[in-house]
Formats: sequence, C-alpha cells, structure tokens
Amino acid sequence: MADPSKKKRSPYTKDRGALGAFEGETITRRRFVTGGALAAGGVATAAVGLPALGFALGPIFEKTVREGWQDVGPETDFNPKTYVPKVITIVADIGEAGKTTIYVRKATPADRSPSDKGKQPLPYVAISTRCAHLGCPVRYVQAAERFICPCHGGVYDSQGKVVGGPPVRPLDRFYTRVRNGRVQVGQRFSVNSHLQRFSPRDPSNHLDGLWQYLYPSRPTT
Ligand code: FES
Repeated sequence: MADPSKKKRSPYTKDRGALGAFEGETITRRRFVTGGALAAGGVATAAVGLPALGFALGPIFEKTVREGWQDVGPETDFNPKTYVPKVITIVADIGEAGKTTIYVRKATPADRSPSDKGKQPLPYVAISTRCAHLGCPVRYVQAAERFICPCHGGVYDSQGKVVGGPPVRPLDRFYTRVRNGRVQVGQRFSVNSHLQRFSPRDPSNHLDGLWQYLYPSRPTT
C-alpha cells in the first residue's frame, strides 16, 4: 500500500516553485539551454575527432597484401647489381593504358626493411616508375645508379630513396616472390625513408613522422 505521507512530485516547474516558471513547463529554461549546449559541444567534438581517429587507426585494419601475382620472368633474368625493366598490368581490361614499367633486381641484405622483422624478406626488389612527387614516369640510369624524373628534377638513389628534387618519399615498390624458379610481382606498396612498408599512397603523400596520418591510403591509389 502506498505511503500517504509521501507526496508525489509534480512534473511541472511552476508547481515545484521554480523561478520564472511558466504554466505547463516541465523543464527549466536554464536546464534546457545547458543540455542543448552540451549536445552541440558533443556533436562538434565528434565531427573533429572521429575523422582524425579514423585516419590514425585506418592503416591498422588495411589489408596490405592482396592477391594477384604476375610473372616477370625466370630467376636467371635478374641479378643484384642491375635493374631489369619489365612491363606489368596494374589495371586490368583497359589494354596498354593499364600497363606500366617496373624495375626489378635481386635483393641483397642491404635491402632489408624494418618491415621484414620476423618475416622472410622479399627476394627481389621491384620498383615502381611512378614518381612520388606528381606521378611522372621515372627512368633508371645505370651509369649514375639513379632514378631520374624528367618533370621537376626528382632524383632517387638505386634503392629508390630521394636524393634530390621535390619528391616527398621514396619510389613505391611491389611485393615479390619466387614460384617454380620464376619471379612473380604482387601488389604495390609505399615506403618511408627507412624503407618501412605502408599500404599504397598517392604521389606527393608523405610517409614519415606524423605526416603519415594526414595522408591515409585511399582505394583509388
Ligand atoms: S613528377 Fe617527378 S619530380 Fe615532379
């Protein structure tokens, strides 16, 4: 049985004696404004914070090695000293427009990457000819042991690291493996100045320090 000494609290602010209350009002204006301001602040924080969190955590969930290996020739075609140009398909079903030249050579211990820790290192180095500045095709000059970009003077050493001009990171690479004595090339990946591997980025995207979080991988790269 209900205790008659306990009086039921009125839902109306006027009955509860709130200052400046109106007839029929169930929440004070101060409380209403405070709640609205808190909600607006929460929305603004989420609008700024969620994209930044996505950029930061996105690469953790990216699939960095995808299927799709292409044969570039027998192991006897390659050596550790000179790059051999090979043509591979990077976009299927569009003919010549979907093909690109890459430079391939046998890997040496100097090509070990921090990303190889605890893993089998890649057996071959396969370098992309897309300049990391704005995407012009670079050419390898064996005598100078340099990759040269004709567009704005970008220069890379024989590992594809930037040694001059405007490019912001080394040349991209492709995964490699050997099957039945033949060298196969897989998906492209990007590297930072320590040759640490990242999922593919667009030209001009930085990959060192905090800059990497401002340039996340996109599906179109
Ligand atoms: S596109 Fe290669 S240096 Fe600009």
